[in-house]
Amino acid sequence: METGKTNRLGHLVWGGCDCVALAASFGTPLCVVDEEMVLSRIRRYIRAASDAYPGLRVAYASKAFACGAVIRHVSNEGLWLDVVSGGELHLALAAGMPPERIVFHGNNKKTDELAFGLSAGAGRFVVDNFTELECLSRLAADGGNRAAVLLRVTPGISPRTHRAVQTARVDSKFGFPVAEGIALAAARRALSLPSIDLLGLHCHIGSQITETYPFKAAARAVARLAWEIEAATGYLAAEINLGGGWGVDQLPTDETPPLERHVSDAVGAFRRAWRRHGRPGVPVGRRTGGQTEGRPSPRRYSWPVLYLEPGRAITAEAGITLYTVGAVKPVPGHRTYVLVDGGMADNPRPAFYGSLYHAAVANRAGDAPGGDYVLAGKACESGDILIRNARLANPRPGDLIAVYATGAYNYSMASNYNRLARPAIVFTGQGKARLVVRRETYEDMERCDLELAPGQTRLMEAAAGADTRHGYA
Ligand code: LLP
Repeated sequence: METGKTNRLGHLVWGGCDCVALAASFGTPLCVVDEEMVLSRIRRYIRAASDAYPGLRVAYASKAFACGAVIRHVSNEGLWLDVVSGGELHLALAAGMPPERIVFHGNNKKTDELAFGLSAGAGRFVVDNFTELECLSRLAADGGNRAAVLLRVTPGISPRTHRAVQTARVDSKFGFPVAEGIALAAARRALSLPSIDLLGLHCHIGSQITETYPFKAAARAVARLAWEIEAATGYLAAEINLGGGWGVDQLPTDETPPLERHVSDAVGAFRRAWRRHGRPGVPVGRRTGGQTEGRPSPRRYSWPVLYLEPGRAITAEAGITLYTVGAVKPVPGHRTYVLVDGGMADNPRPAFYGSLYHAAVANRAGDAPGGDYVLAGKACESGDILIRNARLANPRPGDLIAVYATGAYNYSMASNYNRLARPAIVFTGQGKARLVVRRETYEDMERCDLELAPGQTRLMEAAAGADTRHGYA
């Protein structure tokens, strides 16, 4: 039975599994991910990429949602992987990701993180600033290594999305501004450093963007910059990474164009701009040889390797979160609050960005919504509201609520605020469920506290019966 459908019992089905049975087996809150949907998104990206541009590399942005099971798919399907910290790099390696397909991002990588990346053999370093460039060069030289570098550039683009996730404005903490010749100066400096192999440029404009024009503008700006750098230095970028950021439908009424449109529009704009600004016969790369074998024909353009870096568009819609309703609280003359056993600790996006979600009563998924409710979490603040106007079918204590499209930037942004344990993650497919990340325990949350009596926390946890599994009533 298909994901999102209702079975004979009136229960929501996800990846062929009955959500009521999942909650009974694994407890709530529970992240449920349709594994086939993730795989199908990966494959759609790969197909769209190869239709649009030969050899286009797709790098999955692990910050969206990563665990061993996800990274293994990314690796097996031949994707590259974007990591942004030593922690993400460590997880990637632990999950068996080949280091040469890892792109190491981050706007303030620490020296030990850069050293970790070099010693692990990370395939690309996306350098954010001059200090990092010097540090990476020094570390590489000391270790007898070389670092393959893309420069992150900010061409001054403000896509329509939440301001917190716009990342290519000129006034940004990220990257080298194209303005004032700063990105060009960074390229000059990179070319002068003996342990740095400058491979090209990177530009990520933001996230949850559902229009293609800002991607086209970014692609044009980066192509133009590559040729400006060539005019000034004789070096033509061998690789261009156009970042991620394509959005998803958060609500049933959303109509985000398919990812294929995003890929073909962005790449099409890039191709046209490359021709407009470029000159045939100039080979990409120089110090590293680029991808061009020998000298290209003087009448032909040589083309860089392109990358895209989707995160959300691969996992968001494959995931739902299941919660158990503890209480339903009408406030006369106002609204009715439905209190669930998770909230901003497992999904901070509504509180951070005002993100909109939709939900259903998963144990009566066939029932028509009876009204609007406030779906509220259990954290100690009034801002812990998952959905302000949730259309739900007469929710009652013990009901199971499914919140949709929670497969990206939920688990990866979850916290232990109020000492709430992070949920378990279950992968489903063809009616089978597999626990891929177990629920955190109280002991897990206390493991770094050096002033607690060893062993004590485990004992108390057992006494509290705290496997945090709330059976569905
Ligand atoms: N590449 C780079 C360099 C990035 O910084 C990001 C996301 C991506 C790719 C992937 O972007 P995506 O395709 O997933 O939009 N926490 C925010 C989103 C922050 C995105 C950070 N960077 C949210 O929950 O909306």
